[in-house]
Amino acid sequence: MIKKYRFGNPIQTDATVLNLDLEKDMKDCPFRQEEADKITLTCPLGKEDLVFGLGENIHGINKRGFTYISRCMDEARHTEDRNSLYAAHNFLIVKGADKSFGAYFDASGIISFDVGESDIDELKVVSDDDFDLYIIEGSSLVDINQQFRKLIGRSYIPPKWGFGYGQSRWAYKTEQDFRDIVNNYHKYQIPLDAIYMDIDYMDGYASFTLNENYHPNFETFVKDMKDDGVHVVPIIDAGIKIKKGYDVYEDGVKNNHFCKDKDGNDFIVGVWPGDCHLPDVLNSNTRKWFGDQYKFLLDKGIDGIWNDMNEPSIFYTKERLDEAYACADALRNKSLDLNDYFGMRHNFTSLSSNPKDYKLFYHDMDGKKVRHDKVHNLYGYNLTRAAGEGMERLSPEKRILLFSRGSMIGMHRTSGIWTGDNMAWWSHLKLSVAQMANINMCGFLFTGSDLGGFGSDTNEELMTRWIEFAIFTPLFRNHSQSARAQELYTFKNVDTMRKMVELRYTLLPYIYSEFMKAALNDTNYIRPLAFDYEDDKRALRVEDQLMVGESVMIAPVIENNARGRYVYVPEEMKMIRFRSYDDYDEEILDKGDHYIEVGLDEVLLFIKKDHIVPVTKPALSTKDMDFNDLSCFEYVTQPVTYTLYDDDGISRNVGQKENYHFMEVCPQD
Ligand code: GLC
Repeated sequence: MIKKYRFGNPIQTDATVLNLDLEKDMKDCPFRQEEADKITLTCPLGKEDLVFGLGENIHGINKRGFTYISRCMDEARHTEDRNSLYAAHNFLIVKGADKSFGAYFDASGIISFDVGESDIDELKVVSDDDFDLYIIEGSSLVDINQQFRKLIGRSYIPPKWGFGYGQSRWAYKTEQDFRDIVNNYHKYQIPLDAIYMDIDYMDGYASFTLNENYHPNFETFVKDMKDDGVHVVPIIDAGIKIKKGYDVYEDGVKNNHFCKDKDGNDFIVGVWPGDCHLPDVLNSNTRKWFGDQYKFLLDKGIDGIWNDMNEPSIFYTKERLDEAYACADALRNKSLDLNDYFGMRHNFTSLSSNPKDYKLFYHDMDGKKVRHDKVHNLYGYNLTRAAGEGMERLSPEKRILLFSRGSMIGMHRTSGIWTGDNMAWWSHLKLSVAQMANINMCGFLFTGSDLGGFGSDTNEELMTRWIEFAIFTPLFRNHSQSARAQELYTFKNVDTMRKMVELRYTLLPYIYSEFMKAALNDTNYIRPLAFDYEDDKRALRVEDQLMVGESVMIAPVIENNARGRYVYVPEEMKMIRFRSYDDYDEEILDKGDHYIEVGLDEVLLFIKKDHIVPVTKPALSTKDMDFNDLSCFEYVTQPVTYTLYDDDGISRNVGQKENYHFMEVCPQD
């Protein structure tokens, strides 16, 4: 059951798809309103209560103990002291001792969640702006989450090839660079379905352009790649470069598509290309205009895009730069005391993503002028929504791969997300495990982290463990900007890397089937153990194992130099220790804690009793795989039927009756 409460007169976000009546008073609401100016709501937390959700954020699966601020920002430091990353995922579930409920804060502006940080026994939510609150009660965590997902509508479904392995790196420039990478993957026989193009493919970092020197034969290149089963996936950035003669810029100015300053001039922000304008994607005409720009790439054979810098990322504004320069000029040639030095430094270090800038520009929300800070979290959402809606118009039959860095709930209907600029740190591998669970709860099923770590240098062990975990995450992309190359064939034990990617491909019938069923039924593809074993106090607090689809539990190794780990087995399960898809051993494990050895070239998978994992043979790309030639891993003690979802992996027409198949498996003896 869902109850809707309204605070003030909120700006409509289009995040939900159901129309519910408003409650007249708050007598049934678990929150109390403390203050009306800044809207402050509090809710007591019992000593043993857990709080799940809040999507892409730092810290663990259980969010208690910290404050999270939904302010989409370009935050490259995902450290424990950060309150905000790129997303606004304002949904949480309080798992109480005797009662659980979900709470969704449908807010366009910045909102904070103090989950027992200031007061260990209290959840406090503070918003500057008006919002709607949905309180969801249900029979279980799964039921609460599913009701929420029905409220916000069906999750984005990518093409099947989007589940293949992807290679990316912010360094490849020329066509030859890309061909070399792909040739090496083929040479070492490592499966590959996508090669990603970062900003250097553009002309001066201008979105929807090509650097003709680097890519003189772009369409032929894209076609050659596709013939080899490799999709070329370019990046698009939000800021539009200010440059005479650049058609997107000129057209945007002429037709009033950019955000305005207080005097009605096109507002200027600094991003990769230097001075830019921000498309006003909160306006429906501009959304259409921006979506139509993707035609430039789709016409060239492109069928996948990643949208970046759409929080929006602002490196500087003229206003902030002027302040910083003035301060530096005033201090020139002076002896700098503590206040002078740190004051001046602060002016420069606070240039980027400065909330003061959010008060400097305006949107035209279909006739209503709204200052950006009031709708900040709608920006990345609507930029990617524009892309998704554009692609539906431009490619009505075929699914296009799309994922974004900035996001808000609502955007999950048109796109996936990746978790941004992580580092090659063990703590970030661990963070990614927790993020997958909480991001799924918020409706973003198609998600993954930059494998191996985006920043700083990875090493072979970390890369191997990351791949072994990510075998199970929908987005499976190696991306970095480090000095050390991290293409899988650059490591010494390239055989292990190949075997792990092959294992992913072998598992694709299961991964795709479970992902699709989750998307079509509004359930979660990845879940914390708490969702499946709600009455098991031990399972509720497990932070480093996950449920994947209906049959599988995983327990990734996320510690440096570990050659084993403790695993909590919440019910009798079959453990498979894979060295490759055709080299493994199996063991039945009782419920309880087990120390399990896991060599660096091994990955563990646990199958629930009377469950099945359909598999097939791997190939160098999904295009060459036979999804009809299935076998399975199983743990069955009685005849069991598995519902397999499969389709052509590309048409937008999903969920037809003929896409469901039934696999029956009987015990072997
Ligand atoms: C941002 C993105 C990163 C990309 C870089 C250059 O930092 O998060 O993935 O490589 O921009 O485009």
